[in-house]
Amino acid sequence: MSTFITFEGGEGAGKSTQVKLLGEYLTEQNIPVVLTQEPTGTPLGRKIGDILFHRGHSDMCPETELFLFCAARAQHVRDVIRPALACGKYVLCDRFSDATYAYQAAGRGLDPRFIQTVNDYSAPGLKPDLTLLFDLPAETGLARANRRDATHGNPSSADRFEKEKRDFHERVRAAYLALARREPERFRVVDAARTIDEIAADVRRHVAAFMQHRR
Ligand SMILES: Nc1ncnc2c1ncn2[C@@H]1O[C@H](COP(=O)(O)OP(=O)(O)O)[C@@H](O)[C@H]1O
Ligand SMILES: [Mg+2]
Repeated sequence: MSTFITFEGGEGAGKSTQVKLLGEYLTEQNIPVVLTQEPTGTPLGRKIGDILFHRGHSDMCPETELFLFCAARAQHVRDVIRPALACGKYVLCDRFSDATYAYQAAGRGLDPRFIQTVNDYSAPGLKPDLTLLFDLPAETGLARANRRDATHGNPSSADRFEKEKRDFHERVRAAYLALARREPERFRVVDAARTIDEIAADVRRHVAAFMQHRR
């Protein structure tokens, strides 16, 4: 049965790490799985991502940011997510619509009702079956992201979001936790301040319980 699982959380929370590990785990069990991410899950989305993340684009206004993320999402939903779900696959997606509320509403101050309208246009009728929220203090996540950027070449390659102040990232964290409280049946909050293996075990438990429950 097709299943849409999204991975959410702040910078350096371990989303990409855990998408990959869950993907390997499901593949070992012969479950057909597609791993993808926003906004760069399509060739067009990668170009949009270049614009969105570029450190030099510090004058980008919040509305532009919102529309670019949603433009990438529309393409991603049509070209990658819907086709995979239509043939019964598991889709593991690194960030999705919840990120737009956390970042563009709580982070940038846009009206959540406006965001809901634009989100609904970008991904009509599509909601994750399960959302794993990787929660940890912003500072811990940013330190991890900095180490990651340093080992992947440019030591000062922090993108436009990583460069934001700590209170921006704390607002994002609080907004994610508020979303989880509002939809407890869809969200699982995972304590991301532990080891990669401990978190991966939790993720597998949540997914197994979800599959069991749905049967
Ligand atoms: N639980 C963890 N403890 C310590 N380091 C981690 C953990 N999970 C991921 N990392 C490392 O932290 C960095 C950020 O992880 P990543 O998966 O890229 O986060 P995200 O995709 O949420 O930004 C990577 O270098 C990764 O190897
Ligand atoms: Mg990532």
